[in-house]
Amino acid sequence: MKPIKVGLLGIGTVGSGTFNVLKRNQEEITRRAGRRIEITMVADLNTARAKELTNGECEVVSDANMVVNNPEIDIVIELIGGYGIAKDLVMKAIANGKHVVTANKALLATHGNEIFKAAQDKGVMVAFEAAVAGGIPIIKALREGLTANRIQWIAGIINGTTNFILSEMRDKGLDFDVVLKEAQRLGYAEADPTFDIEGVDAAHKATIMSAIAFGLPVQFDKAHVEGITKLQATDIRYAEQLGYRIKLLGIARRTPNGIELRVHPTLIPAKRLIANVEGAMNAVLVQGDAVGATLYYGKGAGSEPTASAVIADLVDITRLATADPEHRVPHLAFQPDAMVDTPILPMSEVTTSYYLRMRVADQPGVLADVTRILADSSISIDAMLQKEPDEGETRTDIIMLTHQTQEKNIVSAIAKIEALSTVVGEVTKIRLEQLS
Ligand code: NDP
Ligand code: HSE
Repeated sequence: MKPIKVGLLGIGTVGSGTFNVLKRNQEEITRRAGRRIEITMVADLNTARAKELTNGECEVVSDANMVVNNPEIDIVIELIGGYGIAKDLVMKAIANGKHVVTANKALLATHGNEIFKAAQDKGVMVAFEAAVAGGIPIIKALREGLTANRIQWIAGIINGTTNFILSEMRDKGLDFDVVLKEAQRLGYAEADPTFDIEGVDAAHKATIMSAIAFGLPVQFDKAHVEGITKLQATDIRYAEQLGYRIKLLGIARRTPNGIELRVHPTLIPAKRLIANVEGAMNAVLVQGDAVGATLYYGKGAGSEPTASAVIADLVDITRLATADPEHRVPHLAFQPDAMVDTPILPMSEVTTSYYLRMRVADQPGVLADVTRILADSSISIDAMLQKEPDEGETRTDIIMLTHQTQEKNIVSAIAKIEALSTVVGEVTKIRLEQLS
């Protein structure tokens, strides 16, 4: 059979990994795909670097439109990133009847509905395994491997940069900025690293997973997003003393009232496997009603780990390119006419447990006042830590772990606690998940 021809848009970190792995493992990949997969055209703004990387083995152009408009190209791989030119090119490729592979979670989380609709109408595939958790085949697992299940919840460490930062800060006592620079040097961080540290990248990925898990349209605008920039080393230490680790988790959970879709720093019991995922590694825990809990672990970023997922998509498309479009795996796992419109819950309606830290005057009655406020809001306390004040200090820290309550209850209780004359400054609140 004649080779399938691929056009690559963007030969940066992931693009170069894709080119190299495809070349290195060409024979093995061909045996799996049933025909050769050849990158015949590459577009990149830096044509000199692109020519050097591709060593004269394919045509290199600076205008990506030449690739998406080339009738010889069967599959377009979009590895430019962002929602501007990347969206334009993906839509043009689809309109020109080309299948698309992309690692661009930002694009799919915000414009996925429009892109999948266009692809469905045109009978082409849009594959995006690399968009969530890099090299871990989590899209395949959710969409195909777990298809028998009613998925109950997903909780994932799905941003390598922030996990790397949290691990290095805890283990080596390094400063936030130093570790962020290292993550950028290693190619983990997004072009705009605020997407990583403010939780936006993890929320893009959680949004995509929630759509596939529950059969919903992608709804990034409804996700609750909090990053790690406000997290203090003190809280990481206190959490450890209470037997917990703090991780930036992406959570999608089905509840009777709607879907929880949220990203925030989260305390997890230190004994859970996922709490021990360190460095730039990613892990996704999925709870299905039939299978129970399954855990997927691996490299969530980097050149060749991400290329592994991009090439898996190329092989899938190559195998299915000649199949009747009606018989392919649906983009979002559920048939397009069987999607549901279950609401995404506002954060105030989410139910979870909490870690609270407050600085208080070291005098009788303070603790009683705080616990009374919590009791009046029907919030019960699971564990507590009261520090001895330092020598000559008249204030101390109280740390509490609560049982589950709705976010709106804890928010109103915290407002009352902060109004006490014996409480200094703001109460720190971090959500806690048992993940059991
Ligand atoms: P890079 O910035 O390393 O690569 C992007 C490449 O695209 C660069 O070579 C850039 O050229 C080129 N480019 C920019 N604009 C254009 C254009 N208009 N036409 C042609 N080429 C263009 O990004 P990554 O490889 O890290 O990321 C690519 C995608 O993969 C993103 O969507 C990212 O979110 C996603 N991703 C990345 C992972 C990672 O580990 N890095 C992991 C998972 C997903 P120049 O440098 O000259 O601007
Ligand atoms: N910036 C992302 C991360 C790349 O750090 O996980 C992988 O999507």
